[in-house]
Amino acid sequence: MSQNLYTQPMLKDNALKDNVVVVTGGGTGLGKSMAKYFSELGASVVIASRKLDVLKQTAQEIENETGNKVLPVKCDVTSYEQIENLLSETLKHFGKVDSLVNNAAGNFISPTERLSHRAFDIIVNIVLRGTYYATLCFGKHWIKNKKSASVLNIVTTYSWTGSGYVVPSAVAKAGVLALTRSLAVEWAKYGIRFNAIAPGPFPTKGAWDRLFPEELRKNFSVDKKIPLKRVGEHQELANLAAYLISEYSAFINGEVVTIDGGEWLKGAGEFNFLDEIPHEMWDEIEKIIRGKK
Ligand code: HXC
Ligand code: NAP
Repeated sequence: MSQNLYTQPMLKDNALKDNVVVVTGGGTGLGKSMAKYFSELGASVVIASRKLDVLKQTAQEIENETGNKVLPVKCDVTSYEQIENLLSETLKHFGKVDSLVNNAAGNFISPTERLSHRAFDIIVNIVLRGTYYATLCFGKHWIKNKKSASVLNIVTTYSWTGSGYVVPSAVAKAGVLALTRSLAVEWAKYGIRFNAIAPGPFPTKGAWDRLFPEELRKNFSVDKKIPLKRVGEHQELANLAAYLISEYSAFINGEVVTIDGGEWLKGAGEFNFLDEIPHEMWDEIEKIIRGKK
């Protein structure tokens, strides 16, 4: 097997040619990596978030690399008016939109009792409200114009397990997962597919600054709790995202694909803590168990 094949682009050249893809939070982190790969595959990409200067720089960087148009649009996803503007700017520049990637998010670790109600609101508003605003606005447009489309929502593995210390995010991501599965069924009749990706840890500045700050990293190692003993590579997530928005995945609808090296299952499995037992100790343990007849 080739070394690190997962760091390589996977889809065929031009797999997204003539597609128009909108990525919220596309100026940084995983959104930027996905936007870049969609553009590499021939898509016209729109990246949207609050910081126009960051978006412009990313758009230029991607255009220089791929030669395809990337449109930066300032948009706070918590405002329905700004989402409507995002749709109209997209249509003005590209005439249509084929896929929406709801990737924008806000998050930070904190004991829940330390949060003000405003702090709770801000996270839920970006993650859940932002996702259903964009989905509703784009969905109504597609339905009215009888246009098939795909929506990809970026969730997390604690969307279904829940997690302490990131409770507003957990609550919001659970809602996004419910939205994904609900509309996958309800809007299939309009030719609109919905899928989600649940990433484990993928290093980005946004996530690491707020979830794994340096002081914590000294004591807790992120990759040690992952069975495959490494964090994610952006390209492997971008490969999955490109597949899920493309026609190659035309029969996949309502799915959430976990990409976490087995991390959440390790936490869930009753006896997975036995990973800590050194190999040599098993002779002794087996002897003790066999002795208990
Ligand atoms: C407690 C905090 C806080 C903290 C902010 N607040 N930080 N409370 N602990 N560390 C409170 C503020 O006091 C305020 O409440 C309220 O939250 C709003 O804060 P603002 O700073 O005014 O909001 P804003 O400037 O809009 O910033 C939003 C943000 C910020 C979410 C707080 O972090 C942000 O812009 N994030 C975007 C990018 C991001 O988060 N990326 C990471 C995604 S990673 P009061 O009551 O004082 O008004 C991810 C991965 C998950 O989701 C899975 C990983 C494995
Ligand atoms: P990131 O770089 O901080 O990305 C978050 C993006 O959301 C930023 O570009 C930010 O841009 C945008 N954003 C925040 N508030 C917004 C708002 N109100 N309106 C519009 N855009 C807004 O972090 P990331 O790690 O790449 O996260 C990307 C996605 O992956 C998120 O959904 C996150 O939950 C998910 N995820 C990440 C990991 C990980 O390990 N990295 C793991 C699981 C899930 P502006 O500041 O310019 O608005």
